[in-house]
Amino acid sequence: MSEDSHEFDSAHFRTVMGHFPTGVTVVTAMAEDRPHGFTIGSFTSVSLDPPLVGFLPQVGSETWTAMEGTRSFCVNVLSDQQSDLCWKFAKSGTEASRFDSVNWHPAPTGSPVLDRAVAWIDCTIEEVHMMGDHLFVLGRVVALDADANHDGEPPLPLVFYRGALGGFSAEG
Ligand SMILES: Cc1cc2nc3c(=O)[nH]c(=O)nc-3n(C[C@H](O)[C@H](O)[C@H](O)COP(=O)(O)O)c2cc1C
Repeated sequence: MSEDSHEFDSAHFRTVMGHFPTGVTVVTAMAEDRPHGFTIGSFTSVSLDPPLVGFLPQVGSETWTAMEGTRSFCVNVLSDQQSDLCWKFAKSGTEASRFDSVNWHPAPTGSPVLDRAVAWIDCTIEEVHMMGDHLFVLGRVVALDADANHDGEPPLPLVFYRGALGGFSAEG
């Protein structure tokens, strides 16, 4: 077998990877005086000192192409009350209208913070690396916050598992 060959197809790869549960974020940026954003599950914390985070957009993503020139982005961690936003910001070909009827305010870099997100992490772009058919975007955190007031209720995160959305419950 050559180094690149494998005995599975990409459908099987996706199915098995879907068994790893992730949180759900909407990564946003301001470009050409309007907000942009897309649903991203590949968000991860990278380094504490310096404070670095990262995510992986697909090569050729319309949204990433629009936002990369801004050199900044904001990661919004969705709550279990925001599953509508998860699907809305994941639909291809809707890039221009995703923020219709979505309330937000600017983070320090100007990137949108979505109202009622569980947490937001505002970043400048440090590095971008090609990784197969995705890019790895490394961001330096400039500001962040969590636990905004959700009418006195502690917000719970949205969870993506095997292609479906669910919630989180603590068990000790
Ligand atoms: C739960 C969930 C997680 C996703 N995570 C990613 C991701 O990490 N990287 C990515 O490129 N696309 C991811 N997507 C798909 C993108 O949201 C989608 O392809 C994108 O919004 C399409 O817009 P675009 O054509 O403007 O890029 C995810 C979709 C969902 C529903």
